[in-house]
Amino acid sequence: MKIYFSIVLSAAIFANVANAQSLFDYSAPATGSAKCALINVIMDESGSMGGDQTFLKNVALPKMATELHSSNHNYSDVFVCSSGFGYSRTNNAQAYRHLGCTTYNSAGVIANSTALAWYANGAIEDGWYAMKHGMQDVPSSINGTDLLSHCARVDKNLILVTDEDRDDAYSNVDATNIANLIDTNGYILNVIANYGINNNINDFGMNIGGGGSNSTIFRFDSSAPDNHMTYQDFRPYETYVTSFGGTHPHYTELIVDKPGAAWNINSLRSGGLRAQTFADIFVDIKVKEISNGTGGPSGGGGTVRVGGPEAGGDPHITTWNHKEHYEYHGQCDLVMVKDPTFADGLGLYVHIRTKIVRYWSYIQSVAIRIDDDVLEIEGSADAHDDQAHYWKNFEYQGDLDTFAGFPVTQKLPSVYKRTYTIDLSSKFPGQEITIQLYKEFVRVKLNGNEQVFGNSVGLLGDYKTGKTLARDGVTVLDDFTDLGDEWQVLPSEPTLFHEIAHPQFPELCLKPEDPRGERKRRLEESSISEEDAEKACVSLKDPLAIKDCVYDVLATQDVDMVGAF
Ligand SMILES: *[C@@H]1O[C@H](CO)[C@@H](O)[C@H](O)[C@H]1NC(C)=O
Ligand SMILES: *[C@@H]1O[C@H](CO)[C@@H](O)[C@H](O)[C@H]1NC(C)=O
Ligand SMILES: *[C@@H]1O[C@H](CO)[C@@H](O)[C@H](O)[C@H]1NC(C)=O
Ligand SMILES: *[C@@H]1O[C@H](CO)[C@@H](O)[C@H](O)[C@H]1NC(C)=O
Ligand SMILES: *[C@@H]1O[C@H](CO)[C@@H](O)[C@H](O)[C@H]1NC(C)=O
Repeated sequence: MKIYFSIVLSAAIFANVANAQSLFDYSAPATGSAKCALINVIMDESGSMGGDQTFLKNVALPKMATELHSSNHNYSDVFVCSSGFGYSRTNNAQAYRHLGCTTYNSAGVIANSTALAWYANGAIEDGWYAMKHGMQDVPSSINGTDLLSHCARVDKNLILVTDEDRDDAYSNVDATNIANLIDTNGYILNVIANYGINNNINDFGMNIGGGGSNSTIFRFDSSAPDNHMTYQDFRPYETYVTSFGGTHPHYTELIVDKPGAAWNINSLRSGGLRAQTFADIFVDIKVKEISNGTGGPSGGGGTVRVGGPEAGGDPHITTWNHKEHYEYHGQCDLVMVKDPTFADGLGLYVHIRTKIVRYWSYIQSVAIRIDDDVLEIEGSADAHDDQAHYWKNFEYQGDLDTFAGFPVTQKLPSVYKRTYTIDLSSKFPGQEITIQLYKEFVRVKLNGNEQVFGNSVGLLGDYKTGKTLARDGVTVLDDFTDLGDEWQVLPSEPTLFHEIAHPQFPELCLKPEDPRGERKRRLEESSISEEDAEKACVSLKDPLAIKDCVYDVLATQDVDMVGAF
């Protein structure tokens, strides 16, 4: 009796193992004779995505399948796999789920539509994690067809669809890995995301070459043949392509110098002939990519950065976990973050210096100390000033190859736009601190997980809870003026700026006089109206970013402030 029972048990275990899908081996050769295409869709499942999902499901994928099967391309098998990310009820941190793989016939009919049954109800979104796992989860056999023994080639294409940047708090997948993984697996990536190309909704897609500075832009133009034209733009793409939050570092950088393209989800969402043209060109280009053989040029990796909490512009401050988003109007030196235990005791201090201009204020400079090194950075209001304004250990333009042992890189997309990146990888793989300058405005982004910034305190709040805590570590300050004042740099804290600026504690932070009343009066006098500002900022889509942007455009009376976002 006992023996019988144990045999049944082991048979059951065996059956389980036999049923488990074996995975597609990207490194093995295809040995069959069929011409196969594999389209792998990585879909954002957040609430706003319903329309875009319908487009993929009902328009783009059936059209691609039909065209690939047609005598123009002669694919005998079109496989499609799909994964979702961001669905709020999955219980893994990245909210990733693999929906399955199936086939399309030559009439563009899908064999099992369950694979495309995405949700639109999301929470945490991490497109890197989803791309990595979405590639990994492709089974070796789809609907009874073993890919490698059936196909002579498997031409692979990855489509990422999202309207946000990634929430990176939960992922350890670093960017170089993702870019390399896409290459080594032989995929071409296309990104449909929240872009504003030249603030023109007619500019619906772009291939980005020349290291980011030679882009081919697809423009809807109903007077042109096929309703579209293309043109080249030789400016660094970040200077004229707006996006949601960290979309560029998270996703756009992955396609720079690759055959794939970036696609403007807003053009798609606008409907009508423009959306129809988007669909036609998207399908046409993707089919050409697929039929051109597998993979893009390898060896890429690129300079990819991650997103995180930040402080920028007219001090708009986003706390850890994006829990709060607030403005502080005072002028003084402030503790953005502080953690004496950072990196096994090297210690980290990030101080920002704000400046009041009439009724608004902005971050004028930032000073960072790690270990015994101090780096202070500021921008320049002079549009022709091409100097880098920084002090390393209080020395103007001191040697900046490294800072506290971490490599520092500078990127100069234009005279008035400059980025400094402190790469923390040697201690924390894939993590970094970036300082972005737009004219005289400074934006500081801390891109790191709990291991890096988990113990920090300051204006960004508590890392784990995002609570806006006072210096006692307990009191929650809901009034952001109180919070800012609380984190004014104290004499007991290190002096990081090369010049002492008024006010210094015990003198309190300066406040603009009646910011609301003055602002209202100014707005009535100003030449750029609220409507103009809203129009200039609309491409940002993120309501918070639009709000910040409108405010900054009005405050500065400079429509180009959009470029700071
Ligand atoms: C596809 O196959 C048809 C019929 O064999 C042939 O006429 C056509 O040229 C092929 N097309 C391509 C692109 O190879
Ligand atoms: C369709 O796909 C789903 C998920 O991929 C799978 O669970 C289901 O069994 C499939 N249906 C058929 C009829 O194969
Ligand atoms: C499997 O492929 C066959 C032939 O293409 C098709 O008729 C069938 O519906 C497919 N079934 C599933 C579950 O994908
Ligand atoms: C820019 O890219 C286009 C398209 O890839 C290419 O034909 C052209 O030669 C490039 N121009 C320069 C100046 O690199
Ligand atoms: C096709 O591949 C060739 C080389 O492999 C490349 O130069 C060309 O840009 C590719 N075309 C497209 C449309 O991807």
